[in-house]
Amino acid sequence: MNTERKRLLTGLQPSGNLHIGNYFGALKPFLDIYHEYESFLMVADYHALTSLKDPAALRINTLSIVRDYLATGVDPEKVVIFRQSDNQDHTELGWVMNCMVTVPFLMQAHSYKDKVAKGIEPNAGLFTYPMLQAADIALYNVDVVPVGEDQRQHLEYTREAIGKFNRAYGEILKEPTEMILEGVGVVPGTDGLKMSKSYGNTIPLFGTSEEIEKAVMSIVTDSSGTRPENVYAIHKLLKPATELDPLYESHQGRYGDLKKLLAADLDAFIAPMRERRATISDDMVHEVLAEGVKKAKKVSNLTLLKVRKAIGIN
Ligand code: ADP
Ligand code: TRP
Repeated sequence: MNTERKRLLTGLQPSGNLHIGNYFGALKPFLDIYHEYESFLMVADYHALTSLKDPAALRINTLSIVRDYLATGVDPEKVVIFRQSDNQDHTELGWVMNCMVTVPFLMQAHSYKDKVAKGIEPNAGLFTYPMLQAADIALYNVDVVPVGEDQRQHLEYTREAIGKFNRAYGEILKEPTEMILEGVGVVPGTDGLKMSKSYGNTIPLFGTSEEIEKAVMSIVTDSSGTRPENVYAIHKLLKPATELDPLYESHQGRYGDLKKLLAADLDAFIAPMRERRATISDDMVHEVLAEGVKKAKKVSNLTLLKVRKAIGIN
């Protein structure tokens, strides 16, 4: 076995059903490369608590997202899948990370500012969110973090907190690098803004054929251009421009037809994952999480021991 393998970690919030933006922005890059690393996949349920105050929904969403991971082809033998709240090291190191950065620094976070601007309650958890994420990453000495473009700043914040910790206490934590899939960036939603569970503009990853078609037909289009850019941008995730461009040229002005073609292509892409998902039981999910947290703790406990010693609380 190659003991020199680099380490990778990513996380998703169990805050609702996965959409194709999550898939192409986070899961797909993860699926493409996780075999090459010692990999960790985390359900960020404490992060979800910053916006979700419904215990039944949090429980259901957590099981559901693990089932989603498995259905997309993630192999639990090859990646440590675990739930953040099952490992208390995260909240403990999160506190330490909070003590590394200033209030004005956290006030500049786009994710915080965007949510406040949308009238979402700015609870203190939302404010310190990036430092819990820094802890998630720092605990596992992670080299790379595959995420969507919107997480770039959170990785900068992670490096800043880790850098400050290391300058104060010695080189203990590893500074990670984000891995943002070339050519995907931000997947647009049906309203043309960033596709997001919280904006109600999604195309569900495990939707039925009807749900997919309904979402695709509702994509807003601008009639001033030569092609419906929002439709094209999503289609481009499935097919290369060499295939799409002649199609969009021969269908100029026929936006409804182009949407139908996109819906059919999306459905063909999603169907095998949807079928696999139906075969995964709750018991299988519980087993995967129970095994995952044991492996996760083996790594994070060691980091936390070093941190505790360095800060003077061991
Ligand atoms: P949401 O905005 O739907 O709540 P999350 O914040 O839970 O999604 O994001 C989960 C992962 O999916 C993150 O790595 C994020 O960067 C990625 N992601 C979310 N939405 C998009 C999008 N529209 N385009 C690309 N990646 C995305
Ligand atoms: N903040 C991330 C998001 O919105 C989720 C997340 C939590 C995460 N902890 C992480 C992603 C650690 C990568 C690494 O999607």
